[in-house]
Amino acid sequence: MRTIFVTGGAGFIGSAFVRMVLERESDVAIVDYDALTYAGNMENLAGVDDTRHTFVHGDICDREAVLAAMPDGCDAVFNFAAESHVDRSITSAGEFLRTNIIGTQVLLDAARERGVRRFVQVSTDEVMGSLPDDSDEYFTEASPLQPNSPYAASKASAEFVVRAAQETFGVDAVITRCGNNYGPRQFPEKLIPLMIANAMNDEPLPVYGDGRNVRDWIYVEDHCAAIWLAYEKGRSGEAYNIGARNERYNIDVVTAILDLLGKPHSLIKYVADRLGHDRRYAIDPAKAENELGWKPSITWEAGLAATIGWYRDNQAWVDHVRSGEYREYYRKMYGATLA
Ligand code: NAD
Ligand code: TYD
Repeated sequence: MRTIFVTGGAGFIGSAFVRMVLERESDVAIVDYDALTYAGNMENLAGVDDTRHTFVHGDICDREAVLAAMPDGCDAVFNFAAESHVDRSITSAGEFLRTNIIGTQVLLDAARERGVRRFVQVSTDEVMGSLPDDSDEYFTEASPLQPNSPYAASKASAEFVVRAAQETFGVDAVITRCGNNYGPRQFPEKLIPLMIANAMNDEPLPVYGDGRNVRDWIYVEDHCAAIWLAYEKGRSGEAYNIGARNERYNIDVVTAILDLLGKPHSLIKYVADRLGHDRRYAIDPAKAENELGWKPSITWEAGLAATIGWYRDNQAWVDHVRSGEYREYYRKMYGATLA
């Protein structure tokens, strides 16, 4: 039995990863370490097989707690834990720097102390900045890191911290840089679940700017499969860009959601643009395809239908996460424009 240490496993992607690994890898046990911030939710782990999954409530910045939870000689650390929403980082960056940078350093130090074989840092395409509109340029592993938002800056810094551990102490690490994920259990502050939740409630759908920003969308399970392959087959010290060659204008994503839900386009409301809004993300995943043998398996059409189906079937989850702190966030973020 191999043991892996997963941080952020109660979040959107981390919980999908935990489910995938337990289903597919019968010889793997997971220690799942999560601070349960507003984005972490034990409901995301409902039904997970507890015989090979141990949940530990803790902060990745808390060195003693991390050391107490991380088993000696565990095979890998997968670092999903992060503050992950760009708009929140624009309002207040401090927690992003703390969790995403300091937390990564704490994990790297603990991994060395515990003799962990490999460190997998889950990063994002956003560290590479923004591409020009309607160009044939793509992010590759050779693209410079030029983050534009506080969130992206904190994730780029985390990559540098990982690199420094590699160069200084010989830590075996791989980095994955994925595009925009969508799928079940994504917190409804991100574009797709926010639009689904609002449309289901006949509330306005706030589209930033001209709606012509481009994101490169991938179904969450395809991302998780790539992370696993990077752990198993990735070369130490390398980064791998992960994307499904699925660029979409935001406005097209929003109208597709309305159409699938049978709701009118009149629910769309153009609102003020995000500050420093990156125009276009587009990933060239050739290196992951060639070196890891990865390719996405879920089409946009199938993935979006499955996602909408999940939100429809899990209204209680939606109602729960849209209460409490979310109400205050939504009021501050959208209250003035959508009132
Ligand atoms: P999320 O916000 O849904 O989940 C983050 C999880 O981390 C939550 O469970 C939260 O409780 C936990 N967490 C936050 N701070 C913590 C701390 N200090 N200590 C321990 N746990 C803490 O995020 P997500 O969308 O699932 O993203 C997971 C990772 O993938 C992040 O590192 C993110 O940067 C990266 N990523 C996300 C996307 C995307 O489209 N969502 C794309 C590429 C990369
Ligand atoms: P988001 O899901 O926040 O991901 P990211 O900014 O990390 O790519 O946003 C995706 C795109 O959707 C981005 O161009 C901003 C836009 N957007 C809106 O137009 N309205 C919204 O209410 C949100 C949350 C995002």
